[in-house]
Amino acid sequence: MYAEALAHPNIALIKYWGKRDAALNLPAVGSISITLDTLETRTRVEFGPDLTEDRVYLNGRTDDAETAKVGKFLDLFRKISGKSYFALVESKNNFATGAGLASSASGYAAMAVAADAALGLELGSEKLSELARRGSGSASRSLFGGFVEWSLGSNPDGSDSVSRQLLDRKEWPLEVVIAVTSKERKPVSSSKGMNLTMDTSPFYPAWVSSQESDLDAARNAIAAKDFGRLADISEYSCLKMHASAFAANPGIIYWNSATLACMQTIRELRKAGISVFFTVDAGPQVKAVCTPIAAGAVAEALSDVAGVKDVLRAGLGGPAHTIS
Ligand code: PMV
Repeated sequence: MYAEALAHPNIALIKYWGKRDAALNLPAVGSISITLDTLETRTRVEFGPDLTEDRVYLNGRTDDAETAKVGKFLDLFRKISGKSYFALVESKNNFATGAGLASSASGYAAMAVAADAALGLELGSEKLSELARRGSGSASRSLFGGFVEWSLGSNPDGSDSVSRQLLDRKEWPLEVVIAVTSKERKPVSSSKGMNLTMDTSPFYPAWVSSQESDLDAARNAIAAKDFGRLADISEYSCLKMHASAFAANPGIIYWNSATLACMQTIRELRKAGISVFFTVDAGPQVKAVCTPIAAGAVAEALSDVAGVKDVLRAGLGGPAHTIS
């Protein structure tokens, strides 16, 4: 009873920030993302009657808190299957973990696909996106490739807060250049950051009430493949999310000076006619979304920014899937 799955991280263009139900990981707002191709998590899940406890290895290391969290996540699958076997989980990322590169998104998406296949459940991508959401909200979106929307939903049990593809990557093959400005783990997790923002930021209600029109604008820009409109609405959503977090008490700052310098460089490139925009998640890395023809110039400009440690490149990725 084992399977291995591969999933890619995704980067939100219209951000998720805040939970309306922390136990079910239900979002306070809908969100829209793109899935990346070159970054990946490979996760093998094996259930067995001979195992006496859950064992979880993330990049070869084990940690009690992580094992307990994964155990709770796998309980969802054990409950559906009616089988109560413990599991051995081995997960590897080919990129930095916990540094704002969405490793929890690809991690829980890959684990959901592997657990489903190991137990022979065949739940289907939408149901798996609902389950992946329970591990990490943004993981719900990594079940799908290309442009993806995670719906707010309205059912109290969260059964309609699932993701769906908006547009296939082949329809609009954008690229992403990632400027890595720190390889440290982020000091405030996204869950802690969003909870503190919800509880203390006076800007938080405005963030929630303006989200529907941002989602609408992004959906329209994606349907029309209008780069300029997608650029404007994505930067707006990113800055609004961070502004709500800055105004938490104590304020949450995920950026460093190189983060800001990269954002300024990207705006200068755009002013000079290059099709590129930025987005930044709960960490200091800057993701520059651009057209394929612009990617070389964007990567070169970002690697020249003081404080940039590494520049990674990705195209748009496909859905999470089993590999054995
Ligand atoms: O799903 P989490 O808990 O990793 O939170 C993700 C939060 C952001 O990356 C900042 C925004 C998003 O929509 O991915």
